[in-house]
Amino acid sequence: MSRLAFIGGTGVYDPGILQNISSHTIETPYGTASYESGFFGDREIIFLARHGVHHTIPPHRINYRANIYALKMLDVTAVVSTTAVGSLNPDYKPGDLVLVDQFIDMTKSRIGTFFDGERYGVAHLDMTHPYCETLRQAVLAAGKEAGITIHPHGTYICTEGPRFETPAEIRAFRMWGADVVGMTNAPECQLAREAEICYATISMVTNFAAGISKTELTHKEVVDCMAQNISSFRKIITILSGSYDPDTDCVCRHAAAAFGGFHL
Ligand code: HPA
Repeated sequence: MSRLAFIGGTGVYDPGILQNISSHTIETPYGTASYESGFFGDREIIFLARHGVHHTIPPHRINYRANIYALKMLDVTAVVSTTAVGSLNPDYKPGDLVLVDQFIDMTKSRIGTFFDGERYGVAHLDMTHPYCETLRQAVLAAGKEAGITIHPHGTYICTEGPRFETPAEIRAFRMWGADVVGMTNAPECQLAREAEICYATISMVTNFAAGISKTELTHKEVVDCMAQNISSFRKIITILSGSYDPDTDCVCRHAAAAFGGFHL
């Protein structure tokens, strides 16, 4: 049975909308992943807190491969994740939601592929549309239904963290066209594509990025902003849980076809 999953980022540690929730761990060839499963009506939905439910896993130490592989093992076909981001774009203000459609990967130490020449050989997948267009449209429709404004486009630059960026880095990233900066979408997004899972991320702007913000950055302001605006996520997640059909076919689900597909 195909399933929809949510990956919660900073400030989103429980799905909040599911019934009969149970916590699980699952062994994958890449390590252990923890997740929760619960019901929205008669639909089973998977929820995974990427930093752990007590925010104990920093961005560069998340086992992205185990998480995405676990979702594949659970027959998850579509993932909507949340991310807290800093804004480089004056039009994207704290409290705003951005449905990014491109990313720039500035991470340094993460294993970003299943196709590492070992278990899955070598493959080079197209990333013209890194985020699933089908799912993006579903998120936009859910936002409209909930009366929540979502910026429909944006380029997410993923830094290694866990430190925030320097103002000089942010100035350079602006010149490259980045709109928002976060620490987790790479490699989560590309691993989902390799595993032929539809993936979209809803970014909440929690602050203006370093050097644009008039004050120095703190993790507290990120968490506080998420807490103040979490109801927007909840509303969108609620609508998607009821309306998104995880059996929806999509090009993402055939992304590795030229390389024989992605099989567990
Ligand atoms: N930089 C990187 N990650 C972030 C930020 C930021 O300014 N805000 C929230 N997550």
